[in-house]
Amino acid sequence: MAAPAERARQLREDLERHNHAYYVLDAPTVPDAEYDRLFRELQALEAEHPELRTPDSLTLRVGGKPLPEFGQVRHAVPMLSIRTETDTEATGAQAFDSRVRRELGLTEADPAVEYAAELKFDGLAMSLRYEHGVLVQAATRGDGAVGEDVTQNIRTIRAIPLRLRGVDAPVLEVRGEVYMRRDDFDKLNERQRELGEKTFVNPRNAAAGAVRQLDPAIAAKRPLSFFAYGLGEVRGWPLPATHGATLDAFVAMGLPVCDVRTVAAGAAGLVAFHQDVAIRRDTLPFDIDGVVYKVNDYVLQERLGFVTREPRWAVAHKYPAQEMLTTVEAIEVQVGRTGAITPVARLKPVFVGGVTVTNATLHNFEEVERKDVRVGDTVIVRRAGDVIPEVVAIIADKRPMKAVGHDLFAQEPEYPPVTMPSHCPECNSAIEKPEGEAIARCTGGLFCPAQRKQALWHFASRRAMDVDGLGDKLVDQLVDAELLHTAADLYHLTLEQVANLERMAEKSAQNLLDAIEKSKQTTLPRFIYALGIRNVGEATAKDLARHFGNLDALMAASEEQLQQVPDVGPVVAASLAHFFAQPHNRDVIAALRKAGVSWAEGEASAAVSSALAGKTFVLTGTLPSLSRDEAKDLIEAKGGKVAGSVSKKTHYVVAGEEAGSKLEKALALGVPVIDESQLKALLES
Ligand code: IVH
Repeated sequence: MAAPAERARQLREDLERHNHAYYVLDAPTVPDAEYDRLFRELQALEAEHPELRTPDSLTLRVGGKPLPEFGQVRHAVPMLSIRTETDTEATGAQAFDSRVRRELGLTEADPAVEYAAELKFDGLAMSLRYEHGVLVQAATRGDGAVGEDVTQNIRTIRAIPLRLRGVDAPVLEVRGEVYMRRDDFDKLNERQRELGEKTFVNPRNAAAGAVRQLDPAIAAKRPLSFFAYGLGEVRGWPLPATHGATLDAFVAMGLPVCDVRTVAAGAAGLVAFHQDVAIRRDTLPFDIDGVVYKVNDYVLQERLGFVTREPRWAVAHKYPAQEMLTTVEAIEVQVGRTGAITPVARLKPVFVGGVTVTNATLHNFEEVERKDVRVGDTVIVRRAGDVIPEVVAIIADKRPMKAVGHDLFAQEPEYPPVTMPSHCPECNSAIEKPEGEAIARCTGGLFCPAQRKQALWHFASRRAMDVDGLGDKLVDQLVDAELLHTAADLYHLTLEQVANLERMAEKSAQNLLDAIEKSKQTTLPRFIYALGIRNVGEATAKDLARHFGNLDALMAASEEQLQQVPDVGPVVAASLAHFFAQPHNRDVIAALRKAGVSWAEGEASAAVSSALAGKTFVLTGTLPSLSRDEAKDLIEAKGGKVAGSVSKKTHYVVAGEEAGSKLEKALALGVPVIDESQLKALLES
């Protein structure tokens, strides 16, 4: 460990550099969690060794220097920051409540303190000054005392009213957060990429870049949003009694206020809010890194006051970071069911988004090249919700380097750039990447064991042929033992063959054979889906079965005829035609039928006549008697569709117990909400 003075100097230097990259260049060099860690280390070091505290230390300054290009704005009421609670557990909320109670001199006999609880948005703070209800100025926080005048850019944000409804106060400063939604961010980056311009690392960074764009015309093209969460200078506007009431007043004025907020009683209320938001975090359309608790009553806020630049009446309660730093130990490729070659980074284990991550997808080789990810690199890894962890970017100045020749100063990267392999690591077939496509594929087809195994897992899976007990491990064993080449081989397995596999008892072998036998009786949609045709998911399989009625008609259909099916476009039609044109696929289908796989065949059906035809449903929560799959099957059998998220186009939301954000969204959009019994009535109508 370096001496404290040396360590402090190093930390200050690193933090200054990160700060400059973040605030001035709008191109952060480390994730927030890493910056916070370094910052806290410096704070702790200075607390322990006060002699090391320099007057210009970063720990005494908040935010960035205003850019000289913008006019300066002195904030009449300083823009403060909030103390962060890094204990992401319930105890973090309890500690804040205890502190507030202690400082207010409350005893256990006193009632719970009331808090306004809201989200901590991950954007940049903005002060909007309205005079007589008209927006006259917008300023960034800057260093808290002096910010930048970004009025021209802010006026381009549609969510921000240029005139407040029903307000004629001489001065009303509204404070809030300018942010970018994740979908807007993804679209923006896609556009930047197409234009060959630099992409942004995260939405906050893109938002900051847009706000501080010198050219308002460019800023206007960046999709920004805004939420109001507080007050600055106020003259001639009667102050409500609480923070919560202020937010309600904002709504009435036409300001956007996030409706994920509540008034909570005591620590228990805060904990409940923190947990509720944790569950919904990934369904929010924007990033948050925590929630904020504020003592609701302004009189109590006044009594609590401030410590340096932070109010004692507020705290930001964090969640586990969704982006962290780690290093790449290897870069390997994975072969998917349809041969797609995906580069994967093997990582030094890192705790991110609430779990330990050891692999992250690099999507495809164009991405690898664009991001220039190499072995040994320090990378930003992101994991949000159920999404596969991904490598966001590399930290260029942490790349391991080696000396070149005898020149003392010449250096080159220790590891070479990663290139796309020419042959499949599983079967050695050629890898092809069609011109204009991002995905490279192994050309081995079902000859490739990796593809064959996954095709067989898929064939046996629950929503396909539903062979109970035939999981991926067992398929691997059967393929490796050369017992399974095609799906049809499943139906010729003998008890002896299965029982001879390692770790396989006679009883389980018999169970497996029974399950295989049972799977012979299936339905046409399941069979079509089980074939694992590229671009043909469950919904398409159902549409195809309904349209053609029987398999022979489907196999004989031309691409034009296939495109007559609702939702089947040229891409899906081409996949189907290609699949059925392959003799070996036709052979496997014939062998499956010969082995006894069968289903009820019908006539080609015209449109289903039912109250549900063409209607879109969203299921949420637990229904009293139907499982999610059962409800889905029933709806689809009647010609309805089941979607994953609620939009204006949703016809019904079927809500059960513990329905969450989908229910709220339905109510907000005015989508009819029904329960299981109403669904059953609809199904019978
Ligand atoms: S209130 C006195 N409320 O967090 C409290 N800030 O560290 C002043 N932020 O610069 C801020 N969401 O950019 C407040 N619901 C929220 C917030 C929020 C995000 C940001 C804001 C501020 C920083 C404070």
